[in-house]
Amino acid sequence: MVDLMTLYSTPVGYVHMLLRAHVRPGDVVIDATHGNGGDTRLLRSLVGPNGIVYAFDVQLPMRADVDMTDVLLVGHENMARHVAALHHRQVRAVVFNLGYLPGGDKALTTHVDTTVEAVEQALTLIAPDGIIILVGYQHDEGRRELAALRTMLSALPSGTHTATETVFLNHDVTAPIVLTIAGVQRT
Ligand SMILES: C[S@@+](CC[C@H](N)C(=O)[O-])C[C@H]1O[C@@H](n2cnc3c(N)ncnc32)[C@H](O)[C@@H]1O
Repeated sequence: MVDLMTLYSTPVGYVHMLLRAHVRPGDVVIDATHGNGGDTRLLRSLVGPNGIVYAFDVQLPMRADVDMTDVLLVGHENMARHVAALHHRQVRAVVFNLGYLPGGDKALTTHVDTTVEAVEQALTLIAPDGIIILVGYQHDEGRRELAALRTMLSALPSGTHTATETVFLNHDVTAPIVLTIAGVQRT
């Protein structure tokens, strides 16, 4: 049963509930922005020992105790060439938590051009019933990313994808915004 208190507690709680609802043991999934590994940890627990988690980042975590097994220190705009060919069109979830690492170097933020490129590649990697989830922020570069992503997602054909935007209307005005692209075709 979906726990609404968790679902809507925070944008990250919302994203994690979506992942829990969608990702199954044995799935292939991607964390496009590993950071301190919170999303990767959840994904690893959901796919289990027979699944595969690809994780990308351009920097190491802030914390020394983060498990870096299989984390690729590569920009997500290169993800397609790092995902094995046999996993193309098999990926059930891709999660992007955009922006910069809290407490880290704000210059190492995601950028609109590379984010759009990465989402284009993610669209070629997901299974017909796969999902892409993006958490976007409202700093200057984040606003540019959100604007470009809204344009891109709005143009996706509704016969193959459903694109949504979730805004936390009564939270702080700078609260993150969650965008999703869900494949609507059966495998
Ligand atoms: C908000 S943090 C991610 C938080 C992370 N998911 C967690 O649970 O800790 C955003 C991350 O995106 C990373 N990043 C910036 N540009 C990137 C790129 N081109 N490819 C992959 N990661 C990138 C940053 O280094 C930063 O760690």
